[in-house]
Amino acid sequence: MMIVRVLDKKAPDALAVPLFQGEQLASQLAELAEKAGLDATTLQNDFHAEAKEVIVLYPSNSPGRRFYLIGLGKKQGFADVQNALRLFCHRFKSKLPARLGVDLRHIDPVHLPRVCEAAVGGLLLGLYRFDAFPREKNTSDTPLFGTDKSGIDIMTLPEHTAAATSAVSRAEVMAGITKKIFDLVNAPGNQKTPEIFADAAVAMGSEYGFSVRVVRRDTLVAEGLDALLAVGKGSEEPPLLLFLEYGHKTRKKKTPSFGLVGKGITFDTGGISIKPSTNQHFMKSDMGGAAAVLGAFAAAAKLKLPVHLTGAIPVAENMPDGKALKPGDVIRTYAGKTVEVTDTDAEGRLVLADGLAYLLKHETPDVLLDVATLTGSVIRTLGYHAAGLFTNNEQLAAGLTTAGATCGEKLWRLPLWDEYGADLKSDVADLRNFTGKPMAEASSAAKFIEHFTAAHPAWAHIDIAGVAFGDSEFAQSKSATGFGIRLLTEFMENWQESGA
Ligand code: BES
Ligand code: MN
Ligand code: ZN
Repeated sequence: MMIVRVLDKKAPDALAVPLFQGEQLASQLAELAEKAGLDATTLQNDFHAEAKEVIVLYPSNSPGRRFYLIGLGKKQGFADVQNALRLFCHRFKSKLPARLGVDLRHIDPVHLPRVCEAAVGGLLLGLYRFDAFPREKNTSDTPLFGTDKSGIDIMTLPEHTAAATSAVSRAEVMAGITKKIFDLVNAPGNQKTPEIFADAAVAMGSEYGFSVRVVRRDTLVAEGLDALLAVGKGSEEPPLLLFLEYGHKTRKKKTPSFGLVGKGITFDTGGISIKPSTNQHFMKSDMGGAAAVLGAFAAAAKLKLPVHLTGAIPVAENMPDGKALKPGDVIRTYAGKTVEVTDTDAEGRLVLADGLAYLLKHETPDVLLDVATLTGSVIRTLGYHAAGLFTNNEQLAAGLTTAGATCGEKLWRLPLWDEYGADLKSDVADLRNFTGKPMAEASSAAKFIEHFTAAHPAWAHIDIAGVAFGDSEFAQSKSATGFGIRLLTEFMENWQESGA
């Protein structure tokens, strides 16, 4: 573990200086130029603090010192700052000394806590690396920064050390959780069967302080979670359901309660409605919703949020096999409604149906949220830049959208009009799982799920298919983003029902 300290004097030799664009940049650069014995005009000419721009200054007047000037761009948003520092660390980590200072003395006090949290979080995540099988390290070129004896020194003015200290501990908590979630989402299908995923959830529960009950196949059969069982039928690995809880039911009257449901398909081949092989390997990330829910539980528990949280995570592997679900099969869901499975690749809505119904059978949360990598359609609609938000509750829409904007995990609302559900009618069952029309599938999927929410007045569905796993500067191929952890945490922290 790296040690992160907050100091108000004597900066270490290596000092990162994150800088925003704006009116004060010129004078901040002039001050740095003077410290480094450089010409101010030249520095102002060469460094514009564009997002992710980095230059290194080697002051000739004090050997061993260096200043890393890191551009943050114009926006003071959390994600912009975190990403700039993460990219800096990712690129420079092999060259950084054991102790890196981060100068925040020039940051506007109003923004200091968030900038501090984002800067530390970015540096910690910049050290992240996924290894399915840890490789032997070449000790001669093991970088110093990031090892046990290394650390980060945050430089603040004496009057801001308290604020910075709490921002640092929050950053450490969130980065620790995010790295665990990265590992889970990046893990290949053979290393995250439902049973392995359940083990990881149980381990997180005991580390962070929430309970995890594993509901295994026999109980699922006895209780009738037939939709979840149907999706898992083609796999050698039995499906299961995780039931999570944090906080107490005997809570204070005003403590809000949240029910979180996450899609946990550990690998989605499509089943008999099999997917093309190109890019099928990315479907190891089809448990991104489940991972976001787990991460939110860990954050809520570790940050001791005054909320009552329950969660249901249906976990299954969607495989083609002699025993697999066939297109056209009719199944009964836990809620009692029957479904004609016209496409076995629309499996997410089936497991969510049982997850939602199971949660609502045992709990009555004030707010009900489900998070899922549900449709290719939401990617065609919003690209890789935002998750789709579906809800009929205006207050919830506003709360979630604001939380997303604040933490940089953008949500964009899409319609949940009844028209989109019309084509889900079946001749042989209450519903079919696919309209058969390649149009507005993200909305028709949301309408399908709505049937299993028992008309909950504060339900929202978040389709994260485009944002849970993607290209970035941090890996060769697509990798986990951790989308949803911060969004859900931020949302729950700020939620207050109007009139409550
Ligand atoms: N897991 C996929 C959705 C997905 C696609 C997630 C791309 C991430 C990236 C989901 O189970 C699926 O296969 N959806 C189908 C639904 C269709 C058959 C109605 C889709 O979107 O094509
Ligand atoms: Mn699918
Ligand atoms: Zn899927």
